[in-house]
Amino acid sequence: MSAQDAAKRETAATSEVDAKRSRADQPKPFVSIPDNFDGYALDSFCIPKHYEDSLERILLPHGIIMDRVAKMARDIVSDLEYEPLTCLCILKGGHQFFADLVDRIKMLNESGPLSLPLRIDFIRAKSYEDDHSTGKVQIIGGDNMESIRGRNVLIVEDMIDTGNTMVKLLATLREYEPKTLRVASLFVKRTPLSNGYKPHCTSDRPSNTYPTRASPLLPLLMSTAFLDTGFEVPNHFVVGYALDYNEYFRDLPHVAILNDTGKEKYKMSSHD
Ligand code: HPA
Ligand code: MG
Repeated sequence: MSAQDAAKRETAATSEVDAKRSRADQPKPFVSIPDNFDGYALDSFCIPKHYEDSLERILLPHGIIMDRVAKMARDIVSDLEYEPLTCLCILKGGHQFFADLVDRIKMLNESGPLSLPLRIDFIRAKSYEDDHSTGKVQIIGGDNMESIRGRNVLIVEDMIDTGNTMVKLLATLREYEPKTLRVASLFVKRTPLSNGYKPHCTSDRPSNTYPTRASPLLPLLMSTAFLDTGFEVPNHFVVGYALDYNEYFRDLPHVAILNDTGKEKYKMSSHD
């Protein structure tokens, strides 16, 4: 091959990578639940008897969550163009979303002409007691994180609230030099305590403008760790679909707003 042909081929390859990257970085739609959204009465849906007195309203019925997860799976697979993927489940809250997301990716693998080779792993991210100097987290469980080197990695999280743990987890995982690092969070809370790590995406309502306290790491992380979001939710404490309050409510299929009775009944001191 002539030097000119080699140069042409290299330019073509580079522009293909750039095109892929810009496709993957395109804003993705997400669902924004407005602050004045009333949700649904508890007696409109089936809920476990043991939680009936502890919930205010149902914010998201299970079926809507499942439909949104199906679309998130499709967006992720299509952005990756069927390149191999490692899905990292952040326990415990992420387990239900992770299971359903991976199920949908597997369904896409079985039904289409192309398929995406998938690896899975399960970790917990624990902030160090004194993490001011490091900005890192301790990763508990899972394989040796060296296994993510050079791989496309998707972190699967239930909720981004302040964003502090996620920003530290991203900084920690980046040290293992994955090929790409991306986050799928089913929920992002609209809270003034957010550090600014919020959806890169467009929503069906322009709500993604709440004030935040920007972390110094953000510009780097925002530019390199794309955030897929299921639902942006108002600043309530929500439970269900594996999100807990002191380890309770993970067994509730819908996502609901906890009421004062629930907060009192399941507060830390009254249970082991
Ligand atoms: N629900 C459950 N866990 C959480 C929440 C929430 O609203 N915010 C932060 N962790
Ligand atoms: Mg979590």
